[in-house]
Parts: sequence; structure tokens; C-alpha cells
Amino acid sequence: MQMIININGQILPPEKASIPVLDRGFLYGDSIYEVTLTYDKKPFLMKEHLDRLWSSASKIEMHLKYSREDIIREVQKTIDHFGIPRAYIRIIITRGEGEIGLDPNLSDDNNLVIIVKELPENPTWWYEKGVHMIIADLRRLPKKVLDPNLKSGNYLSNVMAHHQAKKVGAFDAILLNMRGYVTEGTTNNIWMVRKDRVITPPLEAGLLEGITRSTLLTIGKKHGIEMVEDNFTADELKSAQEAFLTSSTREIVPITKIDDELIGQGVPGPMYLKLHQIYRDFVRNSLRN
Ligand SMILES: Cc1ncc(COP(=O)(O)O)c(C=O)c1O
Repeated sequence: MQMIININGQILPPEKASIPVLDRGFLYGDSIYEVTLTYDKKPFLMKEHLDRLWSSASKIEMHLKYSREDIIREVQKTIDHFGIPRAYIRIIITRGEGEIGLDPNLSDDNNLVIIVKELPENPTWWYEKGVHMIIADLRRLPKKVLDPNLKSGNYLSNVMAHHQAKKVGAFDAILLNMRGYVTEGTTNNIWMVRKDRVITPPLEAGLLEGITRSTLLTIGKKHGIEMVEDNFTADELKSAQEAFLTSSTREIVPITKIDDELIGQGVPGPMYLKLHQIYRDFVRNSLRN
């Protein structure tokens, strides 16, 4: 797997790239991040990702010494250096390093890390057969514990939910909130189709406002599809006509099994096929502009 890493402007091979152990991202998960991908060597939907990065920073009152232009320039510099057309891009900003202690004022000098690695095409079976998800035992952290709409370095409960899925050979886990409603996957948003309406949980259920989620809501509506945000339970999801997940690097992936239950006929459904085509056309058109 080819990879290069930009640390505070310096481009390094992964084995030479390091962050001080007193960095607060390492000590406390005191960091924020974004993940996007390149199509034709261009980072996709950078404006939206930077908006969310800035929103995450403001939620944790993190001072950013970098401007949006600085980040765009460093990301492009790293992509150009890398030279591979389809790459995974991870932008991480930590609150920096300082004396050990919870007080965020112990450091205000960010570390900026940009990881660019080769992103092979996703396996075709994801899209042709669909994936198996489980309902996680762990619940999504409520907003009053840690805002789920903050993309921070605190992913331990998602890590453990994903681990639960991997132990039974599933693709990923779906987290419910404390009220028992579906929120999202560990790194993706969840959708279901019922009576030809396409439904995804509302932000107030407690989830990350995925950029693919927002994009799909907008472009689906433009194509006359009834796209709504509404709460649903795990049982409602399991008895839906269709289900799928969305994320930047995976686009739209059909879910054909949850726990032991097949979704619909257990194969990708017509609404998934239609929406994925609409999404791919949107990507193609965005690249032209
Ligand atoms: C918890 C969580 N939900 C949803 C998503 C999907 O977001 P996006 O569509 O912006 O990639 C992610 C992406 O990493 C995530 O970490």
C-alpha cells in the first residue's frame, strides 16, 4: 500500500512520519479530522469537508493556526507529490503538544497531519451482493456525553462496535441511541426504504452529519424521490424493503442482511440502484466543473 504523510508542511514516508508523544491527540484524543478521497487527483467536496472541520474545531473551542487556504494548499501539495489518481485523504489537526494535563490551554500550537494513501477500487461484491451488518451492543454516545456531530479523535466506542461486527464476519455495526432508535454505522450513515420513501435518521437522533448523507438527500429530492429524515428502530430497519449505508470513500453500499435477517429479498434493491446511479452522475458532473 503506497502512502505519504505531510506533517506540518513536511512530506515524509510513513516510517519517518511521527508526532510527539506529548501531543494531546495521542494523550486525550484531543484532535479533529476529516476523510475524503480524490477522483482524478482532485480532493472531492473539499469545501464541505473544511466546513465540517471548522465546525468540529468550534465545538471543542480549538484554536486553528491554519487557514482554509493553508489546508487546501497542503492537501494539494501532498496529492501532487503522491501522483496516484485515486487516493484516500485524511486531514487531522490536533490541539498540539504541551505539559501533561487536561487543560486545553497547555497547548495552542496545532499539529497538522495529512495522510494520503492509495485507494484501490472498492470490492465489486459490496455493490453487487450487499453487505451484512449487525446491531451493536454498544449505544451511540449521546450529545450530552460527546457530540456525535463532532468528528474528533475519540472513536473508541465506534472501534469496539466495529470489532464486535468483525468478530462475527460482518461488514460493520449499526449503533442505536439510548432511546433505541437507529443512529448510524461506525463510519457511515444508514438509510432504509419503506413504501418507496427513502428514510435516514434525523441529526437529533445523534449522528454525524455525513457529507454523502447531505449530498444524497439533496440530489435524491432533485430527482423527485421522497427523501425524509425520520426516526426508526432496529426492527423497522430489518423489515424495510431495502437498506443501505453511505460514506465518502464507499459512496452507497446496499445492506442485504442485518443480524440474522435478510433485508427485502436479500439482494440490492431498485432504489439503491437508482440512487447510486444518481450519485455517480453527480460525482461525474462535479469533476467537470
Ligand atoms: C461516525 C460517522 N458517521 C458517518 C460518516 C460518513 O460521513 P461522510 O459521508 O462525510 O464520509 C463517517 C465518516 O467517516 C463517520 O465517521
